[in-house]
Amino acid sequence: MSDYEFCSFHTYTIAFIYDEKVTLSSSKSVSNHGEQWRTFRSKVQRPILQPQTVRKYVAPIEQVTSDFISYMETARDENLDLPACFDNDIHRWSLECIGRVALDVRLGCLSSDLSSNPEPQRIIDAAKYALRNVAVLELKAPYWRYIPTPLWTKYVNNMNFFVELCSRYINEALERLKTKKVTSENDLSLLERVLRSEGDPKIATIMALDLILVGIDTISMAVCSILYQAAIRTKQQEKMAEEIKRVLPDPDKPITYADLDKLHYTKAFVREVFRMYSTVIGNGRTLQEDDVICGYHIPKGVQVVFPTIVTGNMPEFVSDPAEFSPERWLGAGGRLHPFASLPYGHGARICLGRRFADMEIQVLLAKLLRKYRLEYHHEPLEYAVTFMYAPDGPLRLRMIER
Ligand code: HEM
Repeated sequence: MSDYEFCSFHTYTIAFIYDEKVTLSSSKSVSNHGEQWRTFRSKVQRPILQPQTVRKYVAPIEQVTSDFISYMETARDENLDLPACFDNDIHRWSLECIGRVALDVRLGCLSSDLSSNPEPQRIIDAAKYALRNVAVLELKAPYWRYIPTPLWTKYVNNMNFFVELCSRYINEALERLKTKKVTSENDLSLLERVLRSEGDPKIATIMALDLILVGIDTISMAVCSILYQAAIRTKQQEKMAEEIKRVLPDPDKPITYADLDKLHYTKAFVREVFRMYSTVIGNGRTLQEDDVICGYHIPKGVQVVFPTIVTGNMPEFVSDPAEFSPERWLGAGGRLHPFASLPYGHGARICLGRRFADMEIQVLLAKLLRKYRLEYHHEPLEYAVTFMYAPDGPLRLRMIER
């Protein structure tokens, strides 16, 4: 796969800020490929993907998640149903998580009075806008390369908003680092580590920008899907709740990385949701050389798509694919091709945030199902591809104390 360049539904937009702010005339590329991508990724991949980095963020993510659940408790109506805008609330939780990881701040997205601080909603809207329009700019006729079209102009202004946001918090981290006592790498946050090792705040800005732009919408849509599936699959939800109670008998004890490791059934449930309803429906690569795939000769330059949503549901690769069975991930037998379901992609460009995404989802499920039962009492939701694949409609989950 490393011979193929990236061209994904889940692409990103870091290239610009190598050259300071985006200008309306810097319209050459919206996503980032080849050598420039490789250089950047090689600088940040290790610190982001190391298990000890993710371990350090379990406690902060648990804190953010406790605040989110407290918000959910108060947001319920007289039937204990969550509001129709609950999917946006999930976006607020994921932004608060990613702000804590990428910028070392609590952005305040879960505050009950967002009217006094409109920035969190602006960030969410801007991240959605960037992620959803990059494909339009990349794949449709690129008039913006020659004249600044309205879409391009808005896109550039949107990116500049992000660069300014990240720079503000990164400057604060730089100031903090000047006086911080550091005896080992362990004393440093992810952001501080990248700032210290690279000595160039631009790399940290790109990293933060990248994680925020890609990390809000993806995980939020995935969580909408996982919570909806948990609410409509009572039997499996109860199995998760039993497991969580067994691993975490004391609800007041902080969750550890080792606890999360033991949530085998809960993780299998998430994998099964991803297999049947993969949030990112596929990944693409542009061939860098002629190749033969499954007996077909594909010339250089052709874009090849790996549709994980399709392969994950094919009987050739997965036994009884229409049956929702987390047990298949726990060695229950039957066919399960290791490449059938690749929700985070594969190869050199595999999702950079996957360990954080898994951990955030596990912490949310552990805290929520430990205390509450989820139900759903409205019209069944259809899944739709609205950029990502997720339940389409108001996610009015009912949240009942166990
Ligand atoms: C459950 C939620 C998520 C899913 C399903 C997901 C899925 C994906 C997929 C399919 C790719 C493309 C991989 C490829 O082409 O092989 C990707 C790339 C990426 N993801 Fe995620 N992702 C999720 C959450 C996150 C989060 C939370 C972050 C940030 C903390 C993140 C950061 C990234 C980045 C930066 C890339 C680009 C990697 C590169 O091109 O070097 N993702 N993700």
